[in-house]
Amino acid sequence: MDSASAHGDDLEIELRLLVEAIYLKYSHDFRDYALASLRRRVLHAVAQLNFATVSALQERVLHDPHTFSRLLQILTIPVSEMFRDPGYFLALRQHVVPVLRTYPSIKVWVAGCSTGEEVYSLAILLREEGLLERSIVYATDINPLSLERARTGIYPLAQVAGYAASYQAAGGRRALPDYYTAAYGGARFDRSLRENVIFADHSLATDSVFSETHLISCRNVLIYFNKKLQDRAFGLFHDSLCRRGFLGLGSKETVDFSSRAKDFEALVRSERIFRKR
Ligand SMILES: C[S@@+](CC[C@H](N)C(=O)[O-])C[C@H]1O[C@@H](n2cnc3c(N)ncnc32)[C@H](O)[C@@H]1O
Repeated sequence: MDSASAHGDDLEIELRLLVEAIYLKYSHDFRDYALASLRRRVLHAVAQLNFATVSALQERVLHDPHTFSRLLQILTIPVSEMFRDPGYFLALRQHVVPVLRTYPSIKVWVAGCSTGEEVYSLAILLREEGLLERSIVYATDINPLSLERARTGIYPLAQVAGYAASYQAAGGRRALPDYYTAAYGGARFDRSLRENVIFADHSLATDSVFSETHLISCRNVLIYFNKKLQDRAFGLFHDSLCRRGFLGLGSKETVDFSSRAKDFEALVRSERIFRKR
């Protein structure tokens, strides 16, 4: 074995030991995340947190919850945008909302909601369609700091100004600033948008289902999972959705090649919106 491949193998051993240590100590389960992106994130963390090796990082993580918390921020990729891929939200308005309208009460699950931008986008959409008041939105993630930011609903004003075009392209009926108050460089979204939102810690890797949901939006989360964990998540979604419920994924994600493919049909394939069979 040449030294390059030996190095590769050593790194993989270190990665496996790190995720095992995290699981045993903190119950966060990264063992079935896609190896290539996990490797990139961990090497980034090693550099950013000033460790010499993955093993050195692992040793500290095991004994220091603060280092684990900093690592979690890097491993979970807490990036989001409002009305990301506007065509997705437009397709929800056009093809999903008319069905949701027929239910007396509606349950939505935003799985992997990060800092909440997707949740506020959906809340605005539901409000404009007259459905928010009879909806409950479960917004879940494994990153407690992201959930905390999501709960506050405050984002940098300059960033939010940049979402106006996406909001319009998503079929927005008003102007985005109608939904927030600007102060001290921040945009604070209306409290009423999150009145029916329950932010909660939930892992697609270890937890079970929310029952009888009508729409699940899980975007840009499954790309970080290996096939086994994706299959687990699709199983959870299937068990969680009501009869003929809807599943929205990110632009690079699909149920097509999963072992659960037969349990779903494409509703708007181009926007990754599926429906339970
Ligand atoms: C790139 S963000 C996507 C945010 C948002 N859905 C969007 O598309 O803008 C990925 C999110 O998935 C969350 N995540 C990672 N692993 C998870 C798991 N096992 N269960 C639930 N959420 C997870 C991360 O904490 C992070 O907030």
